[in-house]
Amino acid sequence: MHFDPELLEKLRAARRITIFTGAGVSAESGIPTFRDAQTGLWAQFRAEDLATPEAFRRDPVTVWNWYAWRRKLIRDVLPNPAHLAIVQLERLVEHVIVITQNVDGLHQRAGSSDVIELHGNLLDNLCSECRRSVAEIKDDEVPPTCPYCGGLVRPGVVWFGEALPAQAWERAAEAMDATDVFFCVGTSSLVEPAASLPRHARACGKTVIQINPEVTSHDEIAQYVLRGKAGEVLPALLRAAWPSGS
Ligand code: OAD
Repeated sequence: MHFDPELLEKLRAARRITIFTGAGVSAESGIPTFRDAQTGLWAQFRAEDLATPEAFRRDPVTVWNWYAWRRKLIRDVLPNPAHLAIVQLERLVEHVIVITQNVDGLHQRAGSSDVIELHGNLLDNLCSECRRSVAEIKDDEVPPTCPYCGGLVRPGVVWFGEALPAQAWERAAEAMDATDVFFCVGTSSLVEPAASLPRHARACGKTVIQINPEVTSHDEIAQYVLRGKAGEVLPALLRAAWPSGS
């Protein structure tokens, strides 16, 4: 895989690198992306029809079971070379921040030390009424009920139409402002406001690098478009920029 020498020099000179990731980074761990057709029992549903407060109000059992299926998927998979290359980058660059749209926790399991979860985490639970975090849930209740107020417990993820966690969004905006290089990896860049981050990065004069096997709407804002799978491109890019591994 050949890379522009100017890109490699920019990576080596960077003190701060921000990696904005989407479902494509977890695809090589075996987790279907949102735009992949849902599989098996869930083939009849679209993510957009299940990941909403209205769907949960209308049919909490189906929505809870969909997330239980996704949680099992996550427990059965491992971080892939894309996640591991991002961890390795921390040893090569002074400051690396991951801003992820993913809710699978794989960046943290791979060893990334600074991860901003814009859309929450599938393994967290909170009460849909009092909004308290619920650590212990009973397996025989579907969905579980809140031990504090009796409300229905929901996954701790952002649903369509909901606001992003304010603190996560503020930290992501600060990271984007301070960064030297902004990677956009494995995202279709279709969902706002997350998808506005790469645009702001380019507008602020950052070096923007897009890694995706497909064309996306953000290709034209990236100075560098690396066409390929994250699990292949990221390790190759690090080897090219730091041949000695340090
Ligand atoms: P999508 O499913 O929309 O897009 C996945 C992207 O990953 C696509 O652009 C694929 O081309 C790309 N891709 C697939 N395999 C890849 C690989 N091996 N390496 C690199 N890229 C690969 O997923 P997201 O963009 O993450 O929001 O979706 C963003 C948000 O939309 C999600 O966080 C979720 C969804 O609705 C909420 O749930 C609020």
